[in-house]
Order: sequence, then C-alpha cells, then structure tokens
Amino acid sequence: MSVKVIIGAQWGDEGKGKLVDYLSEHTEIVARYQGGANAGHTVHVKDKKYVLHLIPGGILRPEVICLIGNGVVVYPEAFFEEVGFLATHDISVKDRLFISERAHVIFPYHKLVDQASEEVLKSKKIGTTGKGIGPAYVDKFHRSGIRVTDLYDESRLEDVLKENVDQKNSLLVDSFGRPPLNYREILSKTHEFAQKLEPFVADTSEILYNGWKSGRNILLEGAQGCLLDIDFGSYPYVTSSNPTSGGSVIGTGLPPTAIGEIIGVVKAYTTRVGSGPFPTECLDDIGERLRAQGNEFGATTGRPRRCGWFDGVAMRYAARINGFHSLALTKLDVLTGFEKIGVCRNYRIGGEASDKFPAAGRLLEESTAEIEMLDGWEENLSQSKRFSDLPGTARKYVQALEEISDVPIKYVSVGVERDQIITR
Ligand code: IMP
Repeated sequence: MSVKVIIGAQWGDEGKGKLVDYLSEHTEIVARYQGGANAGHTVHVKDKKYVLHLIPGGILRPEVICLIGNGVVVYPEAFFEEVGFLATHDISVKDRLFISERAHVIFPYHKLVDQASEEVLKSKKIGTTGKGIGPAYVDKFHRSGIRVTDLYDESRLEDVLKENVDQKNSLLVDSFGRPPLNYREILSKTHEFAQKLEPFVADTSEILYNGWKSGRNILLEGAQGCLLDIDFGSYPYVTSSNPTSGGSVIGTGLPPTAIGEIIGVVKAYTTRVGSGPFPTECLDDIGERLRAQGNEFGATTGRPRRCGWFDGVAMRYAARINGFHSLALTKLDVLTGFEKIGVCRNYRIGGEASDKFPAAGRLLEESTAEIEMLDGWEENLSQSKRFSDLPGTARKYVQALEEISDVPIKYVSVGVERDQIITR
C-alpha cells in the first residue's frame, strides 16, 4: 500500500507517461493533479502508440480507476476527444474515470486569450501550447472561474459566464483587435457538454481519501516539470500550475501525510519546448543529433524541442524542491553512438562558478554551463534487462548522474516499450 507521486524533474517531456504506465500495473488509482491538455503523455504498448493529454496514463490498464483532480483545468472538448480516441482502441472509461467537481473549466475564450496574448508579446512570448491554460488559472485565482460543479447550478452559471464573456470580449476586441464572442452560443454549448460530462463528475478527493485509508496503491501523476513550476521554475517562462510535489496534495485533496514516495523522472539529457533560459542547450549539431535520435518533437504541439546535455545544477535543485526518494532515468538508449557525452555540474555566472539555480531570470539567462565530457558507448541498449547488462561506460554514466543528483536512480528506461525498463 502506498501513495506515490511521479514528477518531471526537468522542463517536461521526461517520459512520465511511460513510468506511470509501468507502475500502473500494481496500482488501483491514478490521479492527475495539475495542468490540463497542454500535457502530452506518450505510452507505447506493443505496436500501438497512445498520446494522452488530460486523462491519466493509468487508463490503459483496464482495472485502474483514473481521476482528474481539482488542480487540473479541464477543456471538455479535449476530454471527450480523448474518451473517443480511447474507445477506438476498445478502452472503456465507464465507471472508472472521474473529474473533480472542484476542477476549473477551460472555455474557448481562454484559448483565444492565450493565443492572442502570445502574439502581442512577439519575441518575448512564453511559447505556450495555446490551450488556454494560463488564462484559465488566472480566472481561478481571480475567483471568477467556472468550476465543474458550477455547470449544474444554472443561475450561477449564467451569471458568471455572462460576466466572463463580457470581460473577455473587451479584452479580445479592445486589446487584441479580435471579433467578440457570442454569449448565447457559448451558453448553449456549455449546456450540451455539461450534460455529457455529468456521469464523470465526482468528489475525487473523497475517492482518493477512501482509497488511501483502505490501503490501495495510488499514483499521483504530474504533468510538465519542476522547472516549469509557477513558483519554482524559470519564471516567467513557466506554466501556470505547480507540477512540483507540493502541488500533488493541493491538486488532489490528499493530505501531505498520505504521500509515501516521490519519484522524479529525468531524461538522460535535457530538452525544453517554448522560450526561456536553458544553460546546457546545444545550439550546434549535437543538439540536432539529440533531437533526431530522441525524436524530440512536442507530443501536443509537434514543435521541435530544444536539446542539450544533462543539467546537474537544475537536477539538484529539483531534488531539493521535490524531495525525491528516487529517480527514473529515461531515454538512456538515445545516447548510444555519442563518443563523448556532456554533463553539467556547475554554472558560470559573471565569471564565477555557481551550483545554484538562480531565481532571477536575468542570472539564469547569463548562466553558462561548465560541461565535463564522459565516455559514451556504441552498444544497442534496447535488450538490456538488468543494470549489469548495460555496457560499462553506460553504467558509469548512470552512476555519475546519480552522484551529481544525490538521489538513487531506481529505474532506467532503454526504449519506448512497456518492458524496456530496468529496475535496480
Ligand atoms: P502553457 O502550459 O501552455 O501555458 O505553456 C507554458 C510553458 O510550458 C511553455 O514553455 C510550454 O512549452 C511549456 N509546456 C506546457 N506543457 C508542457 C509539456 O507537457 N511539456 C513540455 N513543456 C510544456
């Protein structure tokens, strides 16, 4: 019996989907706790590839109950699209997929405002996924958001939706020069999806609490990553929620005392999508090669990911903020064929060595990575079942990352398939 949290330790896209799927085999409940359909969790099962944006990865195991927690922002259209996609693969969600009545709803105006705000920012844009995530969280914290439960309170829904549409229309028309939205049309669409959504609505915090108290195995699935956290990430180039471990209790309603194990997922190198500082980025042919070998293109937007070497400074920072008990190292196989592999132990800021991940955006922009080159390997790792099956230099590389991170690496992933994972 345990409650485990799975968290991206970098800028997202670490391969959390694969680990959640792997650990779901022995899990009864999987819950998402933040973000929305900006996430893209990819899972390969035999010859099939599933990309989930909003629904927890546990859905691919027929006996697992999946929850979308109160901390998530839900775009109903994306939700139904995903339910439809699962149905085409004969995966039923009936009586095992629930959305928190406290989760906030994303409306089309959130997406429009997200996209228009980015356009205005031009070269300073955040590089968001355009899914309306930021504006939906703005409304949540402004206390003008619409929660799932509000969809079933007609007079409140009409009042708040009208206020929201009016306010977004002034923004869209006056600030962004866009056409206004039609309140009646949005209200009627809202009625339609509210009805379809009703069978999925539940008090998910209660389901989790009861599950925890009765000794069920529970996984809390983070989206994005520590360095995109609104409080601890490379602000302002971050997402608008808390992917870090603290967010997992706020976003589900489980008490902090329930958490038994916190697992950080970390790629054997680093990637990032969108704008913002990235000290270990390789802007040369090494970056191109990492992108090609790792197929580093966004699962949600298709954008090419920026690629670079493993960042030990950011990793130690992530370990401290999240309190990782262990790490899952992913995509080690991608590094096969590199004669030398770079790792960063320190930054250089203004000529001085520093092991600190700075809060100030300007300092992070100015940070350059001190790179140490380690020996690579030529062998194909895809069939390795035990740590001892890995070539010596690959084992040394993993051990170096472990020493830099100061967290034990418990899982090593050597391919996209479910069973291509080594447990140590
Ligand atoms: P937003 O979450 O769409 O507002 O985007 C804010 C920042 O987070 C942008 O840099 C996005 O590229 C990044 N981001 C959002 N979701 C993901 C993800 O699932 N993986 C990696 N980056 C993400």
